[in-house]
Amino acid sequence: MKCLHKMIEVTVVSPANIAFIKFWGKKNPKLNIPFNDSISMNLSGCTTTTTVQFSDKLKSDKIIVNGKEVGGLGNDRVKLILNEIRKMAKIKLKAEVNSKNNFPSDAGIASSASGFSALALAGSVAAGLKLSEKELSILARHGSGSACRSIPDGFTYWREGTNNSSSFAFSIAPPEFWDIRDLVTVVSKEKKKSGSTEGHGAATTSPYFWLRIKNLSRRIKILKSAILKKDFDTFGQNLEEEAVDLHVMAMTSHPPIFYWNSGTMDVIHAVIKMREEGMACFFTMDAGPNVHVICRGIDESKIKKVLEKLPGTIFVISNKPAKGARII
Ligand code: PMV
Repeated sequence: MKCLHKMIEVTVVSPANIAFIKFWGKKNPKLNIPFNDSISMNLSGCTTTTTVQFSDKLKSDKIIVNGKEVGGLGNDRVKLILNEIRKMAKIKLKAEVNSKNNFPSDAGIASSASGFSALALAGSVAAGLKLSEKELSILARHGSGSACRSIPDGFTYWREGTNNSSSFAFSIAPPEFWDIRDLVTVVSKEKKKSGSTEGHGAATTSPYFWLRIKNLSRRIKILKSAILKKDFDTFGQNLEEEAVDLHVMAMTSHPPIFYWNSGTMDVIHAVIKMREEGMACFFTMDAGPNVHVICRGIDESKIKKVLEKLPGTIFVISNKPAKGARII
């Protein structure tokens, strides 16, 4: 870590990511340290743009998200990151944070991942710090676990680690490595009733939680090697099984959480039908009703047309693998 002590306004674009192996449950909730490793891909079409400036003219931190000043939990987590940055940079100045998503927030498209990774990079550079990729990933993780995977490029791997400094994400392949798509099929734009924080808290109450952990290292190995070998069918089958496992855990925890709606089921059935007809595509969802349909680049337009015609579909966002957080 280097500190240049020069306050500037910094704007960063950072991607959301889709988890192929999910983070579900925290062994250290305060530090967002997970029970298991996870794997994801950064999304080119779902980004947050964040501008941060520290200033002696501000009496308190000002946080604007999608044009509105925010308070509550979101605000507390932003302040937590800003406080860490101030501590590292040895400054006391308050900050103005202006953040905008180009996709619906809080609907299972990981707006917290793009948001906190953008904040970690923009805030640290605005405070004159020069953090390494690993240090940025750790800082972003403090805002939201999955945010640590939006710092490195392309396909990323978050090693659970045992303490604060050993739990961070790194790239296993750059964005151009594999021409695949994530067609995010949006079936709800509403703010979800239960956030992922609630889900993580209840995770270990599911009778399937420890069974999943027991079997997970094998699935992680298979899925990682399928990415590196570009074995689309093995990759797809494992990411789909993993998505179903996540939602089984959510539905069987105390209290249970049901993230899906009827539109979600329509997309699942359509994906299965397309597969029966010979089109390679697979589904996954994070903590929300919207479905991420994973396919090869060459099949994108055919599959997108089918998804757009489903009765519950509001719109479809096409994503290629993308770089991590970057200054613009
Ligand atoms: O980073 P959080 O606390 O928003 O949790 C993310 C949880 C999932 O999106 C369901 C899985 C994941 O690994 O991204």
